[in-house]
Amino acid sequence: MAKSGDPAPVIAIDGPSASGKGTVAQEVARSLGFHYLDSGALYRLVAVAAVRQNVALADEKRLAALAGGLACEFCGDQIRLDGQSVTDAVRSEQAASGASEVAALPQVRRALLERQRAFRRVPGLVADGRDMGSVVFPDAVLKIFLTASPEERANRRYKQLMEKGLRVNLINILRDIEQRDARDIGRPVAPLQVGADAMVVDTTNLTVAEAVARILESYAARQSRQAPSR
Ligand code: DC
Repeated sequence: MAKSGDPAPVIAIDGPSASGKGTVAQEVARSLGFHYLDSGALYRLVAVAAVRQNVALADEKRLAALAGGLACEFCGDQIRLDGQSVTDAVRSEQAASGASEVAALPQVRRALLERQRAFRRVPGLVADGRDMGSVVFPDAVLKIFLTASPEERANRRYKQLMEKGLRVNLINILRDIEQRDARDIGRPVAPLQVGADAMVVDTTNLTVAEAVARILESYAARQSRQAPSR
């Protein structure tokens, strides 16, 4: 149990694209009554804003200024930018690919740092991304690396997009996922990595409910270890 004056506890959930982080993290947050940060959405918003304002995805200085000044709001599943709904644009594959490019730029990452930390509020936060445990919340009480095989992740993304009525090709999705993984793992700043203090949860053969249960069990175990003994 956190003592009064302690910062709100953070559960950091990092992992590759389409590993189910978002669904699992939101469910963990809901179960605990915690706030939720989808940090990928911030990088996606920078990419969406850049396209709208004709800023090249390699123009680090202007992108960092865009990132620092993003006028965005999160309301449940809905995302607004400059007062307009951009939910579908942010969730598009185009935004995902642009996000992966802008996320490799150190000045953009720096510009988003404090904005991400501002999501930390009582009673606690579940934060999902790539560097939640390593950079943004290094003092997180629980660090999870959520993953699944590239084929399973491609299948899940394929099903999601088909359900939305989009015509997509599984081979192309797998290729995109592998390219994005390579970029996220290979970049010099805040690369996607399994931290020494992170617990790996491989969801290739797990349901969402099973993955959530594992994380909640680990959190409860940590809490009971931290509880003062009488
Ligand atoms: O989790 P996602 O698919 O919405 O993330 C989109 C891109 O943003 C992804 O290629 C990696 C990047 N990202 C990042 O570098 N750091 C984060 N904390 C979150 C996302």
